[in-house]
Amino acid sequence: MIDFIYEVPTKIYFGKDQMGHLGEEIAKFGKKVLITYGGGSVKKIGLFDKIVAELKKYDLEIFEMGGIEPNPRIGSVRKGAQICKDEGIDVILAVGGGSTIDCSKWISAGACVDFDPWEFFVTEAMPEKAVPLVTVLTMAATGSEMNGGGVISNPETNEKLACISPFVKPKVSFLNPELTYTVSRFQTAAGSADILSHLIETYFNPGDSMYMLDSSMEAFMKTVIKYAPVALENPEDYEARANIMWAASWAINGFTRTCQVGGWSCHPMEHELSAFYDITHGLGLAILTPSWLRFCLDEGTLDRYVKFGVNVWGVDPGLPPMEIAEKGIEKTAEFLFETLGLDSSLTAIGIDDTHFAEMANKACKGKFINGYKQFTPADVEKIYRMSL
Ligand code: NZQ
Ligand code: ZN
Repeated sequence: MIDFIYEVPTKIYFGKDQMGHLGEEIAKFGKKVLITYGGGSVKKIGLFDKIVAELKKYDLEIFEMGGIEPNPRIGSVRKGAQICKDEGIDVILAVGGGSTIDCSKWISAGACVDFDPWEFFVTEAMPEKAVPLVTVLTMAATGSEMNGGGVISNPETNEKLACISPFVKPKVSFLNPELTYTVSRFQTAAGSADILSHLIETYFNPGDSMYMLDSSMEAFMKTVIKYAPVALENPEDYEARANIMWAASWAINGFTRTCQVGGWSCHPMEHELSAFYDITHGLGLAILTPSWLRFCLDEGTLDRYVKFGVNVWGVDPGLPPMEIAEKGIEKTAEFLFETLGLDSSLTAIGIDDTHFAEMANKACKGKFINGYKQFTPADVEKIYRMSL
């Protein structure tokens, strides 16, 4: 078991009646606040006005930048960074889902450098400081509200790349499950698939693990499996939305990965799908995950699949190990495609094999992905084909 350091400095306000603390938290960082948001849902649900009212109580000077795209673009990062520089912004308040928060993270870092923020993604350049970031989360999925990662697309180069820095971690995040009541059926399903994928990517990892972490991940997965259908059935079920929201944050805030060495592999494969076809991240993961699980199953990995099948899906432990493993994969696919109702193949969402070779090569950065296994471009291409 390897040594580790764990630090999540994000302060969380969780629950229905926490918004009264927003102004006081923002005011700690200064007077000028840039509110960032996406395509307008925050205005439609009346959240924007409530936030402005809270900030006005503290006499804060408000700037705004809307229009951040799902699969946020580098153009939005550049625009936001420029506003911060021009206006001398003291703090950024991101209101939205993972896309808005990710974009705001790289705005916060981009505001402090004199080079193009895309450099963070394609060179060795890393942030050395950032404008403080506070978030109000409106959708449970990516865990961006409590981590230092952010994924940005560059449509000019068909690239969607992740970058991680402790400097862009939100200082404070407000998690009110009620704000997720209006998330569509599709986005609720895709978000749930994303959370599950974060856990599966971490659970299926080479090298040592810890009983305590494995059991926690199994509990988080079972939380999604139990509550996502409840939220789909009744979008205003507070208990379901709360469980999903908190599980989302803990699935990817560093905790579950603390003693692991391997990287993720399904995510880089999906990011290529989003880069080339601008699809919803969680949907791409849902389509790839069962194929990815099938591809990785062999005698060497079997034990982990048995644990997964028995502890997460309740498969009969008395069955032969290979049968348990296969049933675990089947149940995962059933959950994603039947219970959550997500499309089950690339073909169903209009993706054919035209760019498979190029996407596979990019996912492997020309070499390989070091994940649960070492995936070559040929392996990645095979997983894409298995998902057609
Ligand atoms: O843009 P608006 O109008 O706000 O609408 C959004 C968007 O259309 C809508 N929405 C969000 N909250 C809502 C709502 N609609 C109604 N009511 C609400 N309360 O939902 C749509 C999707 O939003 P988005 O922010 O794109 O979704 P998500 O949170 O899934 O974020 C996806 C992005 O995060 C990246 C993904 O690659 C993708 O670009 N990821 C970030 C990670 C991280 N930072 O750690 C890890 C993830 O693996 C992932 O890669
Ligand atoms: Zn994800």
